Amino acid sequence: MRVLVTGGAGYIGSHTLVELLGQAHAVCVMDSYANSSPVVLDRVRMLTNGTVTAVEGDVRHDDTLRRVMADFRPEVVIHFAGLKAVGDSMSDPLGYYDVNVNGTLALLRAMDVAGCRRIIFSSSATVYGEPVYLPYDEAHPLNPTSVYGRTKMIAEHILTDWAAANGGSAVLLRYFNPVGAHASATLGEDPADVPNNLMPYIAQVAVGQRSHVNVFGDDYDTPDGTGLRDYIHVVDLARAHVAAVDYATQRKGARPFNIGTGQPYSVQQMVEAFRKASGHPIPTVIAPRRAGDIAAMQADSTRAHAELGWRATHTLDDMAASTWAWQSGNPAGFRTPGR
Ligand code: NAD
Ligand code: WQD
Repeated sequence: MRVLVTGGAGYIGSHTLVELLGQAHAVCVMDSYANSSPVVLDRVRMLTNGTVTAVEGDVRHDDTLRRVMADFRPEVVIHFAGLKAVGDSMSDPLGYYDVNVNGTLALLRAMDVAGCRRIIFSSSATVYGEPVYLPYDEAHPLNPTSVYGRTKMIAEHILTDWAAANGGSAVLLRYFNPVGAHASATLGEDPADVPNNLMPYIAQVAVGQRSHVNVFGDDYDTPDGTGLRDYIHVVDLARAHVAAVDYATQRKGARPFNIGTGQPYSVQQMVEAFRKASGHPIPTVIAPRRAGDIAAMQADSTRAHAELGWRATHTLDDMAASTWAWQSGNPAGFRTPGR
């Protein structure tokens, strides 16, 4: 299949390119490099020996989108391009609605013109908000607590209405907490700023770039008092997209899928796994709870197993070891000289 990948130079997009190329799909990336760099695509080419066509452009720009559609004629689109920092979304709501919602609208308009009727969308477990029950299944009510979460929920609604109106297929993948890196240690997460997320923060402490991990709260109603999350290895997540491409060619309509392992780990367990993988001490300091945090999140991914034929295979040790190999081999991320 010809697969257009918006945001393909990003963390999840780049790992997905590798898996798509491994299954002989043809790929074209459209990325503004707002949070990535073209170097990432060179790494994907090196790793796969594959062809990665790339167009620099903003997903909100109708003209660029139409040109890409006309030149590449995608049969499926995977839509990663977007902004993802929860805190920034609260201080810049209009910027987040513009990129995440208007970007999705512009993409669908261009797909309509080109007659492309299949899309895989990067949604997030954050659409659920405070749990009414755990694990979350896809029928759990949606009640996001941040602007970021609302942009994802609104985009899901738009995609659902679009698919119903034109016989299209929209696969809504609700990712839990993506972590880890490619086994080659040539691709991984490369935060532009101080990491917001736990795993890249721990990695920077392990490599000596930061002094300690702040543990945001140790008085939650969880076994060790720290927050529980359903971490999913990025390569497993990438493979869910390949499964979704196959699914979208066979089914019409919109369908959400939880993409997690179903096995949550605490902050302390993540730090411990990283100590083991890196052999470094990783000091921690108990800090106040982070505003807006939920005590525990856990996926029920039964639907993804049953309907996508997808299942996570990587363990917590794989997550920690691959992150460590990436971080220690690329201390300055994709800017590391000589890599
Ligand atoms: P990322 O920032 O690494 O990747 C996003 C890519 O989109 C980047 O390459 C960026 O340059 C590009 N981009 C941003 N704005 C753009 C625009 N206007 N036009 C074109 N390209 C643009 O993030 P990621 O972690 O790979 O996330 C990919 C998607 O998955 C995002 O939509 C994100 O919201 C979603 N998601 C991420 C997580 C997570 O924790 N990483 C969890 C759930 C959902
Ligand atoms: C995990 C746990 C923190 C950092 C966010 C977004 C979500 C999704 C994934 C995009 C929590 C604790 C963290 C630190 C800590 N992204 N923590 N010290 O908050 O579950 O989800 O990323 O869709 O939308 O909200 O992930 O990695 O930030 O936190 O103690 O320095 O680690 O309190 O319990 P989160 P996270």
